[in-house]
Amino acid sequence: MQSLVPEPIEILSGVEDGEAARHFRFRFCGQSDSNLKKWQSTRPGQFFMLSVPGAGEAPFTFTTLPNAQGEFSALVRRMGQVTGALFERKPGYTLGARGPFGHGWPVTDGDTEKVLTEKALIVGGGCGLAPLVSLVEHLINSGTPPVALVYGARTAAAQVLNPERKRWQSQLPLFDIVQQGNGCQYRGTPLDLLPEVLNQVGEPERVFLCGPEIMMHTVAEFFVQRGLPASAIWMSIERRMHCATGTCGHCYLEHQYVCKDGPTYRWDKLAPLLARSSGAGALADFHC
Ligand SMILES: Cc1cc2nc3c(=O)[nH]c(=O)nc-3n(C[C@H](O)[C@H](O)[C@H](O)COP(=O)(O)OP(=O)(O)OC[C@H]3O[C@@H](n4cnc5c(N)ncnc54)[C@H](O)[C@@H]3O)c2cc1C
Ligand code: FES
Repeated sequence: MQSLVPEPIEILSGVEDGEAARHFRFRFCGQSDSNLKKWQSTRPGQFFMLSVPGAGEAPFTFTTLPNAQGEFSALVRRMGQVTGALFERKPGYTLGARGPFGHGWPVTDGDTEKVLTEKALIVGGGCGLAPLVSLVEHLINSGTPPVALVYGARTAAAQVLNPERKRWQSQLPLFDIVQQGNGCQYRGTPLDLLPEVLNQVGEPERVFLCGPEIMMHTVAEFFVQRGLPASAIWMSIERRMHCATGTCGHCYLEHQYVCKDGPTYRWDKLAPLLARSSGAGALADFHC
């Protein structure tokens, strides 16, 4: 079993990025080489438990994975006790991290470890873009950028990861859509925009989703109805987590521990689990 003792990290910086959201850069302090290697093996879509002394622990996804210097990033939305305390801390403050946890996104063939080259379409909603960032970067860097990224937010002010999306504009077709207000070419939800996106870029062979669960479910069913196998649709879900090691049962979804067996799931495997558990344990969405 993985250790439950957090490893020290310090805050390097925190940049406001969207409503009540801040993009933090962290660095491990005084780690042994072997421990740093463990963190450097983090895969896109995995997560870590961040502990803020005196406030508690909560799970967050890496937006950039730990590098050789032990630096990594996470986009955090201010929600409650842990995130509230984090937002009060200044650069240089020492926190703790445990992980990396969970299965990431499927970016290689499980048997051969060869990079998958299928045409991938990515749909993110609100702060749900955060778990997709390292996937987008991975696909760009491995020479198979997504055929499109569709990003929906409530308003233009609520859009997150603004520097990243600006950079991606020259690297892949990027479709931003907001539900209310101006400041964006398209108005509505990602689902509303998909027919136009597919007209422009064609049908994908694989779809990755992260955002409010209702958005992910309706988009998944949209693609299933167009003939994409449910096994080609992946999404990352959230459940309340305490241990993140498959011990405490807080994240239980039917017979699965989301912390260990997820948080990324194939739609053909996830849909029956959700149907049988009728959405039990779903977190209040942090997706702005
Ligand atoms: C795998 C994973 C990855 C995540 N990645 C990110 C990320 O990259 N960025 C990010 O900002 N957030 C992320 N989250 C969400 C984040 O962990 C939660 O928002 C977390 O609860 C924030 O902690 P807090 O103490 O600040 O808020 P809390 O005080 O825990 O409150 C957060 C919300 O959860 C509700 N809540 C409290 N207790 C329960 C309960 N027992 N059951 C259900 N809901 C409850 C509260 O009402 C509130 O609306 C992720 C969650 C998971 C599971
Ligand atoms: S968080 Fe404890 S079992 Fe998953």
